[in-house]
Amino acid sequence: MARILITGITGQDGSYLAESHLASGDEVDGLVRQSSLLQRTRLDSVPALVKARSTGRLKLHYADLSDTSSLVSVLRNVKPETVYHLAGQSHVKISFDLPEYTADSTGLGTLRLLESMRHVVPDARLFLAATSEIFGEAKESPQNEKTPMNPINPYAAAKVYALNLVRIYRKAYGVFACAGILFNHESPRRGENYVTRKIARGAARIARGREKELHLGALTPKRDWSYAVDIVDGIRRIASAPKPDDFVLASGLPHSVGEFCEAAFRVVGLDYGKHVVLDPEYVRLVDITETCGDASRARNELGWAPKTGFLELVRIMVDAELADLDAHGDPA
Ligand code: NAP
Ligand code: GDD
Repeated sequence: MARILITGITGQDGSYLAESHLASGDEVDGLVRQSSLLQRTRLDSVPALVKARSTGRLKLHYADLSDTSSLVSVLRNVKPETVYHLAGQSHVKISFDLPEYTADSTGLGTLRLLESMRHVVPDARLFLAATSEIFGEAKESPQNEKTPMNPINPYAAAKVYALNLVRIYRKAYGVFACAGILFNHESPRRGENYVTRKIARGAARIARGREKELHLGALTPKRDWSYAVDIVDGIRRIASAPKPDDFVLASGLPHSVGEFCEAAFRVVGLDYGKHVVLDPEYVRLVDITETCGDASRARNELGWAPKTGFLELVRIMVDAELADLDAHGDPA
């Protein structure tokens, strides 16, 4: 039985990771931020997580990435063997609206955590959720662990800083600090303002007569989309490898936003062309044309490969939206 600490446990990946470790018999602790509402939708809607909280196998602790003393206090209290660092401002477009906050939570937050761990739990393992965004408009395709970093938005710049810190601490202090260079991964638990969840939700709501249109910024960008459950399996493999290192986790099969729309609306028997409206509100100042990851190192060294294909992922997401609408309705 291992003792696991997750920053970002209330997020998409954190909730799946907590579920996965609890299923392996581990004890899970998670950092949560102060907020005016106590409801934490992702944790409260998963029966295994609700049960684990009631039995004390899952514990939540107040802390914030901007507050070093809160991080030190949780580390002292929990004494984790592995820390998964998933927390931070992660929306690319919003990082232009909140550049300083993004740098502070995603960049400096990682520094505060590494420093706190070095002093309090120097033998613990740290996993950082890095991102394909570090490559920007890459000159080579597919991108692998050696592809040069070329960030084009404040979020990506903060992640470059965080990933460099992980590499620096690994080398300078000899700590077990590793990273997943994660390409986009999606699920019914994805935040509602990311494009796949927005499309799945829009298709379901239009199919049930709640809405007529879905407003998007662009249809041509391509992303290397995987299922979050598969990526979380890869994250665990990276964090439990014999040596600390960084690995790309990706499907290697990019699809466009338009293809996602076509597949999602097909699940509900509709033509997306009749409902999707291009809206300047969602257009980015700069955007990556296409991402495509090469996960062959993870496949060869960790035995990892994604199990869920693109069309299955789209169906999982649209079916979940339909089920939610049919079970609970929606006043809006
Ligand atoms: P997510 O759903 O947006 O979750 C982000 C988490 O970070 C939430 O738990 C959030 O807490 C927490 N958080 C944000 N700012 C914080 C702060 N100042 N102090 C403490 N907690 C804070 O993200 P995700 O999709 O699960 O992604 C997990 C990680 O992987 C992120 O670091 C993301 O950048 C990275 N990543 C994700 C993808 C992807 O496609 N999903 C790809 C590459 C990398 P609240 O619930 O309180 O807001
Ligand atoms: N969110 C959003 N909303 N994106 C849109 C829209 C829209 O209405 N219309 C088109 N897009 C396009 C974006 O311009 C982008 O090209 C693509 O859809 C995907 O956007 P997001 O789903 O917001 O994800 P992202 O690729 O910018 O970032 C996600 O993946 C990164 C890994 O590559 C986030 O999870 C990041 O945190 C993560 O690092």
